[in-house]
Amino acid sequence: MKTRIMLSFVILWSLALTATSAEPIHIRFSHVVAEQTPKGNAANRFKQLVEQKLAGKVTVEVFPRATLYDDDAVLLALLRNDVQLAAPSMPKFSFMTKSLQFYDLPFLFDDLAAVERFQNSEIAKRQLDSLSDKGIKGLAYWRNGMRVMSADRPLHVPTDLRGLLFRIEPSHVIEEQYRLLGAQTIQLPFNHVRDALSRGLIKGQENSWANIYSQNFDRWQPYITETHHSFQGYMVVTSSAFWDGLPAEIRRELEAILAQVTDETNGIMSKRNEEYRQGVIDRGKAQLITLTDQERDAWRQALAPVGEKFKSQTDPAVLAAVREANAGGK
Ligand code: LMR
Repeated sequence: MKTRIMLSFVILWSLALTATSAEPIHIRFSHVVAEQTPKGNAANRFKQLVEQKLAGKVTVEVFPRATLYDDDAVLLALLRNDVQLAAPSMPKFSFMTKSLQFYDLPFLFDDLAAVERFQNSEIAKRQLDSLSDKGIKGLAYWRNGMRVMSADRPLHVPTDLRGLLFRIEPSHVIEEQYRLLGAQTIQLPFNHVRDALSRGLIKGQENSWANIYSQNFDRWQPYITETHHSFQGYMVVTSSAFWDGLPAEIRRELEAILAQVTDETNGIMSKRNEEYRQGVIDRGKAQLITLTDQERDAWRQALAPVGEKFKSQTDPAVLAAVREANAGGK
């Protein structure tokens, strides 16, 4: 009798275990931008494809607009397994590694096409492992656009920034850039920028067209200078513990889906940038300032010391690959 009770207990227990292991794997993807942006669209597309191709096996929940975590907290949340995917912009990794800070160097990349060529290089692919010693795994690069500067006054020449308070992302490189231009800086999470602008607490900021358009920054920033001085984009990351612990066939399928989403989103970026820029023009709130070659040279020269200062912290092989990527377009 006792043995039969024990046996039933064991059978019930193993049934419970089977039921647990058949539960779909749940992925929480947290990001800070609006859904109608390159990253917002890509995260939603990832969810759509996963739930089509891995129906019943994996579910995805996307949290846009920092509704779950802002970028300051998301990397630690990944390590706690509170979220499983995130795509912070490059400066947000700077408290963990210096090896990605070169992305913020002003006038390093000629344009978005050069960034694309660079990110297809072997060295950029290896850099997806830049945070592996911290338990974070890079899965893909998603591009947004080249940064432009907006302000409450026209910025034609580098000295026009003197005395202005600019919101920046957490990057020593960006901080140095504005220090050289005579501006003051404050690091704010992305989801606080609109509020700070609307209250007049900050006078300028830099960002991609998609972020300016989707956040309506032009409502409080009547001048936007098309500096295109640095690259704004993302590394899609997970925790190594979560990713390596996935069943191999599910991991392979997720990687294939991510590769498809990455191709789709990066493939249309130049066109999308033009659309976001046009959206800002059509709203008619901000005046666009386009730099002549001569004006652009003045900005380049004013900011050259930033490159010099951070050169010793940048892998020379990375700089060589960037040069090659720039030359590839000529
Ligand atoms: C910012 O903080 O300005 C951007 O990096 C936000 C984003 O994720 O595009």
